[in-house]
Amino acid sequence: MLNPYFLVVFLYIALAVLGALDASLINFELLPAFAGLRWMRVHFITLGALTELAFGVLPILVAARAGLPRPKIRWDIWLTLNLGLLILLIGIPPINAVLITAGGTLVFIAAILLMVQLGKMRATDKAAHSSEGRKFYLMGLAYLLLGILVGTGLWQGWGAWLQIKIPIEVHIHANNWGFMSMLFAGLLIDLYPSFAGRSLAWPRSITPIFWMMTLGALLLVLGPWFQSNLFSVPGLILHLTATIWLLLNVIKPLVDDRQLRSVGMLHLITAYAWILAPVLVAPLIILQVPGFPGTGIEQNAPQALIYGWVLQFGYAMIPLLFRRIFQPDTPPKLGGNWFSLIAVHLGGAFLWVGIFIHESQATLHGIAYGLWFVSMLPIAYELWQIVRSGISDSQDHDAAEVLAESGD
Ligand code: HEM
Repeated sequence: MLNPYFLVVFLYIALAVLGALDASLINFELLPAFAGLRWMRVHFITLGALTELAFGVLPILVAARAGLPRPKIRWDIWLTLNLGLLILLIGIPPINAVLITAGGTLVFIAAILLMVQLGKMRATDKAAHSSEGRKFYLMGLAYLLLGILVGTGLWQGWGAWLQIKIPIEVHIHANNWGFMSMLFAGLLIDLYPSFAGRSLAWPRSITPIFWMMTLGALLLVLGPWFQSNLFSVPGLILHLTATIWLLLNVIKPLVDDRQLRSVGMLHLITAYAWILAPVLVAPLIILQVPGFPGTGIEQNAPQALIYGWVLQFGYAMIPLLFRRIFQPDTPPKLGGNWFSLIAVHLGGAFLWVGIFIHESQATLHGIAYGLWFVSMLPIAYELWQIVRSGISDSQDHDAAEVLAESGD
């Protein structure tokens, strides 16, 4: 039975490819801007590709680690999530409050149902070790709930009711530092042994990393909530320290063993450079240094973070997980190639340079989105090949079963 989440992930990646091409053409003034596409561009990637991937893969991963049988697909959760996404896609461009609230509520319910499902998956006595990533996933999903709540109310004045000073930043921080960071950390921890063939450098560091990330994300959410650096600064230090510690866990074995080095591994690790970029300039924004393009950064940095970090992490991780689902007999392999690696980083560089050189911003941003567009092509092609061969294998298998039954 094919996992329907993965087909939807593929669909949204294809939409993300078109979204980047469209942004490039808009910057070059070859296409008119279309209201709502800015939202779609980011959320095709965050909600459409990565959240959808998380919903598809987490129950399978956590059950496998806990020594439980592979869970049946939960159609109720799949339908709730995808109806919610579709309603948001319809409701966001005209900013229709009823549709946005309905879509946000459905995605919220789907996340709660997934949390309940994962929460019930406790390790059996027979399982050698339960999923270390499980607590990261559950905490990440709790942050997603907060991110959805604030995101759904962004254009409806809920921020004032919740006494939030800067709602958009609370939304981005809950989703990026809370949900995505914790999800990615959990996936790295759970999957590293399979694609690297060995454990992380210091397995005992996982619990302190978990608590540092959890607390760091909370402080990073409270920072814009109360507009106070008393929360943001320690939050940033805690979160970054935990992230660097996790990455060192991944990198240290590569120093000793050349065979572990691959383009996919480079995608995974260097994606995190795009988290550092906004962090490095944050002090200059906070200090309001004259002539420093603070507004330009606030408007464009989220896109660089999503394409440079979230999407690029996906370049390596999504093909790995697709192979695991569609071609379980092939050896684990991260996705990506040198072309996707260089193009995605050049895209980030052009976007950031465009923020600083205002006169040439449209051209530089046109090039940035163009580079992101071409960087996605090999990944989309790799995924398409995996899906195609998986589907034809399963059709062959079904046909063989039908023939065997009719022969009985
Ligand atoms: C039901 C779920 C969600 C809803 C209703 C929602 C809603 C919104 C809205 C209304 C905006 C403002 C767009 C604008 O000002 O142009 C926004 C921006 C943003 N959201 Fe979400 N969102 C959701 C989930 C997520 C998730 C899961 C992530 C990331 C993991 C995310 C990341 C972002 C980012 C990075 C931006 C800033 C985009 C930019 O400035 O270009 N959102 N979201």
